[in-house]
Amino acid sequence: MRRPTPAPARSLVAALDVGSSKVSALIAEPAGEGRLKILGTGQRESKGVRRGFIADMEKSELAIREAVEQAERIAGTNIDQVFVGFSAGGLVSDVASVELAIGGRRIADADIDSLLDAGKNSIDPAGRMLLHAMPALYTIDGMNGVRKPNGLHADKLAVDIHVVAADPSPVKNLDLCVRSAHLGVEAIVASPVAAGKACLSEEERELGVALVELGAGVTNVSVFAGGMLAGLKSLATGASDITDDIAAAFGTRRNEAERIKCFYGSAMMSPRDNHDMIELAPIAGHQEGIETQRITRAQLVTVIRQRLEHLASEIEAALKDLGFAGPFGRQVVLTGGGAELKGIADYAQGVLGRAVRVGRPAMPGLPDAHSGPAFSTLAGLAQFAASDELDLRTGFAAPQVEKAGGNVVQRLIAAFRTQY
Ligand SMILES: Nc1ncnc2c1ncn2[C@@H]1O[C@H](COP(=O)(O)OP(=O)(O)OP(=O)(O)O)[C@@H](O)[C@H]1O
Ligand SMILES: [Mg+2]
Repeated sequence: MRRPTPAPARSLVAALDVGSSKVSALIAEPAGEGRLKILGTGQRESKGVRRGFIADMEKSELAIREAVEQAERIAGTNIDQVFVGFSAGGLVSDVASVELAIGGRRIADADIDSLLDAGKNSIDPAGRMLLHAMPALYTIDGMNGVRKPNGLHADKLAVDIHVVAADPSPVKNLDLCVRSAHLGVEAIVASPVAAGKACLSEEERELGVALVELGAGVTNVSVFAGGMLAGLKSLATGASDITDDIAAAFGTRRNEAERIKCFYGSAMMSPRDNHDMIELAPIAGHQEGIETQRITRAQLVTVIRQRLEHLASEIEAALKDLGFAGPFGRQVVLTGGGAELKGIADYAQGVLGRAVRVGRPAMPGLPDAHSGPAFSTLAGLAQFAASDELDLRTGFAAPQVEKAGGNVVQRLIAAFRTQY
């Protein structure tokens, strides 16, 4: 097998995040060593996307065109290819392991090529579409966690290949929608892969961390260990459900509920909340005879917390399923627009019993309006685009999977520990 030819150095990278509440675009110029100079960003309200799925092609296509055009105007340049984030449900992640006999000699580049080739052939997407297949950790004669095996003597060389796959139809619809907006799709990247790049430190990804992206319609729970994404689960609940609950509880419009959630809302109750009054526009608007409604902040926080309690128990169950437990399963990072809610980190720390922080994209030069947690995926897409990681996706023949035994997260942690 030939090693996939590294992509030529890009002069520009463009990222597009099509979310349930907003479509955002970013154009940047690689500035060496994985750094990026941001040239332009754009954003439009998203109207045709439900829980991450394209539900209306035309509306989504228009929002994509407008967000990209805005970024292009600011950047003073046009783009024709984008890296697109995929955050709808149906994502699965796994680690496939393959082994090659070396027979005591030094490992040559050709050995690594054959190993990766074997790895490619061992992955069975089982009807799903492969978004990522990245070689992660190498193992030499049982020694885990080797990053560069080239030139070392070994009897056996093995590799863990990290795979992320998705249900094909929603990915195809997203691809089609972006192409209809006259843009080429360079890659469709799983949202947690992108968000993890933007707001987790390398050390967190090595030692074990859970990333919870609270979007408008989707909450993506992912676990990183040994430097890579080790598992993920999508929950079909998001911060827009809080808005809907507020609208239903107080009989007000969604946009009014959204406004009071963002302005007065909190995940934490304080004694003053019983005295803080909030004025609400009634559903019929300010008409004669219909009085403006007044509620206490405590009432608002109660509604918010009811939804959060439900969400937190789903998140906890997802973390448990993903094997995020024990001494390394202590750090949780919250991101996505929902992480802007006041007090959310304190709240989550209490209910999850783990250290929680809010993760924002670590990307210098992002304009203020686009530097909050809602833009982690967007920023991470650009970082992913600039990193040119080795990806084995092309040309899969797929007979069978030889899956890694046991819990992937625990195994990666063990590998990392052996190395250091
Ligand atoms: N200050 C704030 N307080 C509370 N919630 C907020 C605040 N700012 C934004 N949000 C919520 O964040 C959500 C939007 O998050 P985000 O932009 O990450 O979603 P998205 O990417 O459009 O959707 P998804 O990824 O779920 O498809 C909205 O529901 C919004 O109400
Ligand atoms: Mg999103």
